[in-house]
Order: sequence, then C-alpha cells, then structure tokens
Amino acid sequence: MVACRACGTPVEKFMSFGRQPIANRFLEPGDTQSEYFFEMEVGTCAKCTLFQLIEQPDPEMMFHDTYAFFSQTSKGMQAHFEGFATYVKDTFLKGDDPFVVEIGSNDGIMLRHFLAAGIRHLGVEPSSNVADAARQAGIDTISVFFGVDTAAAIAEERGLADAIFAANVICHIPDIAGVARGVARLLKPTGVFVFEDPYLGDVLEKTSYDQIYDEHVFLFSALSVRNAFAPHGLELIDCIPQPTHGGSMRYVLGRQGQHPVSERVSERVAWEEARGLGRAETFQEFARACERSRDALVSLLKELKESGKKVVGYAATSKSTTVLNYCGIGPDLISYISDTTPIKQGRLSPGMHIPVRPYADFLADKPDYAVLFAWNHRNEIMAKEEGYMQRGGKWIRFVPDVGIE
Ligand code: SAH
Ligand code: TMP
Ligand code: ZN
Repeated sequence: MVACRACGTPVEKFMSFGRQPIANRFLEPGDTQSEYFFEMEVGTCAKCTLFQLIEQPDPEMMFHDTYAFFSQTSKGMQAHFEGFATYVKDTFLKGDDPFVVEIGSNDGIMLRHFLAAGIRHLGVEPSSNVADAARQAGIDTISVFFGVDTAAAIAEERGLADAIFAANVICHIPDIAGVARGVARLLKPTGVFVFEDPYLGDVLEKTSYDQIYDEHVFLFSALSVRNAFAPHGLELIDCIPQPTHGGSMRYVLGRQGQHPVSERVSERVAWEEARGLGRAETFQEFARACERSRDALVSLLKELKESGKKVVGYAATSKSTTVLNYCGIGPDLISYISDTTPIKQGRLSPGMHIPVRPYADFLADKPDYAVLFAWNHRNEIMAKEEGYMQRGGKWIRFVPDVGIE
C-alpha cells in the first residue's frame, strides 16, 4: 500500500494500465534499447478522495531541456489562454502594480497577455527548451520546479503575488502539500490561486482513460482539491468547468475566509458525491469500461488491417502513449502517426515505436482511416480536415466510445 500524497491515508489500488514508458519521450530510431518503463497503476484515497498514480517516474525524467510539448501548437489553446488571462485580469487584478506568477508557463502561451498589458509577471518553468521560447518573446521566466523553496525565493526577491495561476501542471506535481505550502507562502493576504486541470468527472463520464499517463499523477475533483488545500489555509472559493482537454475544471482558491465562496462549490461537491467520485465501486466500473474500450479498439483495427485498409494516427499526443501501450497497438496496426511538432517528427512513439511523421505526409499519403488521438482538439481539426473527409477519409474515435465517423 502506498500513502496518499495529500493526506497519508493508504491508497486503494483499483486498476493497472500495464507497463508504460515516459509519455512524451519520443525516441530516435537507434535509441529503443534503453527505454524506461514503469508499471502504471491507479488508485484513490478513501479519506480525501484524491485519484492518483501509485508510482510516478522522477520529475527530471519527464521535464528537461528537450521537453516535447509546446503549448502554442494548438490554435484552440491559444484562444483559451487569451480568455483565461482576461478572466484573471478582470476578476482579480484591481490594485496598483499587480504581480502574477505562473507555474508551468511553458512557451508563454498565457503570460504573453500579461507582458502585453505591462503587468509584472514571472513564469516558473523547469523544461528549459520551452522556457527559452518564452524568454525569447520577452517573458520573464525561471527554469526551476515550483515548491516551497522556489516560492520563498520569489517572495523575497519580488514580493508577494496578487495571483498565482497554472494550467495542466498542478496535476503533474507529486508533492501537492509542497505546492500548497508554496502558494500559501507566496500569495498576498487577498491573493488568489487559480488553476485548471483535466477533471475526474469528465474522465469517468467519457471513459477517457488516456488522461492517465506518467505526468498526470493526479486527476482532481472539487472534493479532492478542497480536501488537499484546506489543511494549508487555502479555501476553494469557485470551480468553473472548462471545455479544454476533453473536460477540465478551473479551481479558484484564496486564504481561508478572505473571499465569498461561490455556490458552484457546494453544488459541484454535491454532484460529485451523488456521482460516487469517492467510492470504490465507481472506479471498479471505470476499470471495466476501460477494458471494454481497449478490446473494441483493438478488434476494429485488426478488422481494418485484414480488409487491407491504410490506417494512420492523427497527432502524437502524450495521451496516445497510454492508449497505444495499454492496448498493445504497434506499427502493424497503425503505420505511422502524423504530428505538427518538429521535435517529434522522425522519431518513434514511446513504448510501441510507431514512426511519427510530419503533417505533410498525412496530406500527401491519403490514408483510409485516421485514429483521432488529439480528440480534445476535435473542432479545430475537423475544420482543418474538410478535404480529407470530402475525399472519403474516415476518423476512428475511442472517446467516449469506439467508432468510425
Ligand atoms: N501550462 C501549459 C503547459 C502545460 S504542460 C499549458 O497548459 O499548455 C506542463 C508544464 O509544466 C511543462 O512545461 C512542465 O515542464 C511544467 N512543470 C512540470 N513540473 C513542474 C513544477 N514542479 N513546477 C513548475 N512547472 C512544472
Ligand atoms: P495535446 O493533446 O497534449 O494538446 O497535444 C497535442 C499534439 O497534437 C501536439 O503534438 C500537436 C499535435 N497536433 C497536430 O498534429 N495537429 C493538430 O491539428 C493539432 C491541434 C495538434
Ligand atoms: Zn488522501
């Protein structure tokens, strides 16, 4: 039994996704011998309800100077972050000369709006290659992991923050108590901590088990966020659903008693309790749904192969690593994956070693079927790929169910 990372209670394991590699480590063709794997098992805490990986690789193995994910590759996400920045500015930055800190600021997709508005800002981004892209755009960024020591150093050098925000990163940091203590150290008395991450409720509703991979040590709910931060004097004051990454939640926290608490918090917690987000049976049912999804996807791909169809993958997302390795899908079933990120092209997908090829190859190659791995960017992709569909190209989806469209 492992101890819950938030409260120390033993975590109840309910499912294994088998041997998994580092989801964003795309390999050079000659580099497949030394690949790292870990057993990816998940469980929940019976006390605080936090959904978590049992084992997670060391952060330095995942976040480094050749991190493969650049936030600004998606136009949909660019629009989302413009809205997120406006929300923070208009709702919380009313005083003089505000100071904001972003955790996991990547290539500056969010902070560029604060730079443009002349607002004092700092990005904390340990993956130095993506941080360099932000620095080149003039965004103040330090390449370190956020935690209590980083928070104390920032507070001493630059003062306390009016807002600390983060997207798709708090669920990456195993020392959640360290994050909470760091935030509590760095925030002004009336400051806010706003973060968004894929939402456990959506993962369960859609059987989108591909949100579970090495980086995502947690899948949060309002209930588990409230429980994890309360012991550190931070109160959940709002939670606002977001359409990003297939269903996310934006959590807003302030120091205990400093802000009115939105009705959305109690409504959401009541919904989660009714939906059984803290109960073992809910997760046992989820495990069975994942197995059914895996079996259906593999049968479909085998059928298409037998009937001589050309099947490729669309977008080498980090999420696709879980699907491919859990289902055991390799280059025999999906001949290559096309992706627009230069650093991934010419490499092999983690674990199953499917070649990743430039997007131009997808356009030139005219496959019969494409597995939509970037289903979270569906609208953007459907708008872009009208030509593919007009000439008879089909999509294979696996969320919320397996099918062809
Ligand atoms: N916020 C961006 C990037 C998300 S990817 C977006 O939503 O698109 C997660 C990012 O968090 C990566 O760039 C990674 O290097 C960074 N990261 C991981 N652990 C971190 C930590 N402990 N502190 C700060 N950033 C971290
Ligand atoms: P994400 O699902 O983690 O946001 O990763 C998106 C990946 O998908 C990234 O590698 C870029 C790739 N991608 C494409 O190849 N084509 C597209 O049209 C989009 C939106 C993303
Ligand atoms: Zn717990």
